[in-house]
Amino acid sequence: MKERPSVSKRNAIVRSIGMSVAARILTNADLEKLVETNDEWITSRTGIKERRISEPDQGASYFATRAAKEALDRAAVSPEKVEAIIVATVTGDQVFPATSCLVQEALGANNAAAFDVGAACAGFIYATEIAASMIRAGSINNAVIVGVDVLTKLVDWTDRSTCILFGDGGGAIYMEAGEEDRGLIATVIKSDGSGARHIHMKVGGSLSPASKIAESGLRPYLFMAGQEVYRFAVKAMTDSCCSVLAKAGMTADEIDLFVPHQANLRIITAASQRLGLPPEKIYVNVQKYGNMSAGSIPVALYEAEQEGRLKRGDVVMTVGFGAGLVWGANIIRW
Ligand code: UT7
Repeated sequence: MKERPSVSKRNAIVRSIGMSVAARILTNADLEKLVETNDEWITSRTGIKERRISEPDQGASYFATRAAKEALDRAAVSPEKVEAIIVATVTGDQVFPATSCLVQEALGANNAAAFDVGAACAGFIYATEIAASMIRAGSINNAVIVGVDVLTKLVDWTDRSTCILFGDGGGAIYMEAGEEDRGLIATVIKSDGSGARHIHMKVGGSLSPASKIAESGLRPYLFMAGQEVYRFAVKAMTDSCCSVLAKAGMTADEIDLFVPHQANLRIITAASQRLGLPPEKIYVNVQKYGNMSAGSIPVALYEAEQEGRLKRGDVVMTVGFGAGLVWGANIIRW
């Protein structure tokens, strides 16, 4: 049997990354034809210029599978070698089985465990921590970690306060045990269920199954109290970044790139200023994709790498927040 590296040297290393977003682009000008809104309002309040909309036959597993396949191809790892597939999503193809099982089948990853993580826009942060902990503990040697969401499927296209915000897609990393001095350095993950009322999707759950929509009187769309979430978001981002820096024994100066959840440019700017991070260290692509929930951080990591802003050995800090309420941050040496 091949000997495993000792626990102290068993780091959880990101070997490769993939992404997949919906092809169809919906611009702010297109939205002006659907609801009473305008490009100036959307741009100044959110920073979003356009977003990607999935087709009726494309669920979360469609994008998850493509992103995972790209990550595995780039790492030159065959699907049979994968030991765990963890999909962070709140918009799985079905109530059950887990979307990760659909991805596992589509990839031909016949030796992998598969489960989903439901931590909304912080899902990728949570899933990365879970995979890294399992790798460091020696229970698995590698994992594919996907963050993906298709929230445009749950949006009320007559509600201008939410339909402008979201887009569809996600990304995946292939993570592996290794002895190099890089990988996931530290994580902070938190929750506050008293804020569950601020963002939710009630229909389709066990209290309000789809068959009972008429009796429940519920609207079959996602709900978000924008202002409450906004206030929470800036504080959650700042607090979790300070905590994860302290946990890693690092200062903000040591961060090469900050990759926050891409929900709203104003939130990103406010949090970055509080953290004292200069604009050149902050990665933003919300203008192209809107809020892809669990998909936004891995897609941003992917594009940062493609653009040469995230290189091997760089220290990247990611932070996310969302429905739960949940939030958290990771520091990774790439
Ligand atoms: O990933 C999950 C986490 N979610 C978030 O991060 C979202 C956090 N929240 C936000 O990003 C912001 O609260 C929004 C972008 C959603 C809204 O921005 P806001 O500055 O908080 O606007 P508001 O809800 O206070 O609305 C201000 C005004 C209202 O009109 P009145 O009442 O002042 O006359 C709205 O009716 O803007 C109006 N409004 C719009 N106007 C044009 C709301 N949506 C639109 C729209 N176009 N699309």
